[in-house]
Amino acid sequence: MKKILELLSEEMGKAFEAAGYDSALGRVTLSNRPDLCEYQCNGAMAGAKQYRKPPIAIANDVAGQLETSSVFSEVRAVAPGFLNLKLSEEYLLKAVECMAAEPKFGLEPADRPKKIIIDYGGANVAKPLHVGHIRAAVIGESIKRICRYVGHEVIGDVHLGDWGLQMGLVITGLQDRQPELVYFDESYQGEYPDEAPFTISELEEIYPAASARSKEDPEYKARAMEATFKLQNGVRGYRALWKHILNVSVADLKKNYGSLNVEFDLWKGESDVHDLIPEMVDYMKENGYAHISEGALVVDVKEDTDTREIPPCMILKSDGASLYNTTDLATIMERMRLYSPDEIIYVVDKRQELYFEQVFRCARKTKLVKPETELVFLGFGTMNGADGKPFKTRDGGVMRLEALIRETGDEMYKKIREGRQMPEEDAVRVAKQVAVSALKYGDLSNQASKDYVFDIDRFTSFEGDTGPYILYTIVRIKSILTKYREQGGSLDGLKLQAAGGESEKALEMKLVEFNTMIQSAAEELAPHKVCAYIYDLANAFNHFYHETKILGEEDTLRRESLIGLLVITEDVLNVCIDLLGFEAPDRM
Ligand code: ARG
Repeated sequence: MKKILELLSEEMGKAFEAAGYDSALGRVTLSNRPDLCEYQCNGAMAGAKQYRKPPIAIANDVAGQLETSSVFSEVRAVAPGFLNLKLSEEYLLKAVECMAAEPKFGLEPADRPKKIIIDYGGANVAKPLHVGHIRAAVIGESIKRICRYVGHEVIGDVHLGDWGLQMGLVITGLQDRQPELVYFDESYQGEYPDEAPFTISELEEIYPAASARSKEDPEYKARAMEATFKLQNGVRGYRALWKHILNVSVADLKKNYGSLNVEFDLWKGESDVHDLIPEMVDYMKENGYAHISEGALVVDVKEDTDTREIPPCMILKSDGASLYNTTDLATIMERMRLYSPDEIIYVVDKRQELYFEQVFRCARKTKLVKPETELVFLGFGTMNGADGKPFKTRDGGVMRLEALIRETGDEMYKKIREGRQMPEEDAVRVAKQVAVSALKYGDLSNQASKDYVFDIDRFTSFEGDTGPYILYTIVRIKSILTKYREQGGSLDGLKLQAAGGESEKALEMKLVEFNTMIQSAAEELAPHKVCAYIYDLANAFNHFYHETKILGEEDTLRRESLIGLLVITEDVLNVCIDLLGFEAPDRM
């Protein structure tokens, strides 16, 4: 189904043409004076010069053509030359029926479906997930779902940080605690145990302790670097330990991501491309892309048009060690070989923008990607506390994701317990579910690139622009539909009638915007557009609900039509929250 503004513009275009003007002038937009009209067209103003006529004369001519229109119930030419439009209820009804009947509510399939890899997550193995990672996970997951919905093939990759110094730190920390472990015996030739010699809680203690010590103790740091080097160069015992660290850590990460409904298709990491690095380095050298500068191997990526300093992209350090850049470039090489994507999207903290600019330029210059491959950096802002500084725990420490989810859940539980009668078990489950909506919506409703303040009170409120408000609206609809069914009504074959009042019409006008909204959310990688839409839709619904007798409506056909409208509204809301990555309970 075409977008509503396209349909209306076509209709308007015909009227311009019939009155002797260019049909392109018929472009219709949403009204910016909703008190006066629903839609507007400013084509008469735009055409005044071309036709050497006062705009109001053109507007009057056009309005004259639409006197008997079945699309518009009102076309008013007003000074100096605006065309104020209202839609006919019958036409709107047809549009709603059409969207309800078509797959995906009338969203046209993507004209050029792409294969897209989304690199989001970026968790570091052996380090606990902190709130910095929440944004990547929440935004990336939603973008993945939106892109899939509009018809692209999307592969989500967690791209673990599993190959850097933190691995050497954990190994060194472990060696100090348990020097007798067989992994540290270099003469050992046998098989290593299947069972990891630590639990996740031990692992979570080891890393911070080792990291803190390495900052004060240069000798310790040197040991950790040595361990990292040995690991990367394949020392058996270290590789075996590393596998254990990875397994224990990934199991925990899956649990955490799972509690946020975040799922990755690929659990790859930096380590996966380790063996590709020598080949990539040779290729860059042989083709003259890379050269030695102060001992390091670099690729120049600055361009004449640069207005800021873009330093060269370093491929190998002077001691031959690889860097963050190196693994990212080798990962691009691997992704091209395995998946040949049309586009790779990175959902990463915006402070890494310059870094990715270097990586992308380097990948293009060295032809690791095809000229038409799109490399997109989607940088997100910081999640701040009420003090405007990056969000911390009450005692000033780094807030762990698990703790954040728990605290939000506790707050939600309190609120649910306050106002409602519900068995304890249900309250606990529902609180968790609603808490996920609070966290995710609180994040996603902001444009990703902006910083935002994590405000637990506001995010968990049932009123205002929040996840719980959206869920509350869905639950309200569900409960009306349940009652309707209990009273013997059926939800099959409901026939809609033209809107019976302003608030009903407003709800329908919001509904038919769905395909327009979702397409632009996908094009602009902008989940906040989905949030803004469902907030408007929920408001339109609640306004309609307060003004309309639904179950109490005596005219059966009209009651059916109202119920039909509820069904569509619920379906659209459910699809949208699924695209945002959360779901609604049956009651709350
Ligand atoms: N592990 C990194 C961090 O915690 C994020 C990884 C982002 N993705 C990438 N391909 N570099 O900062």
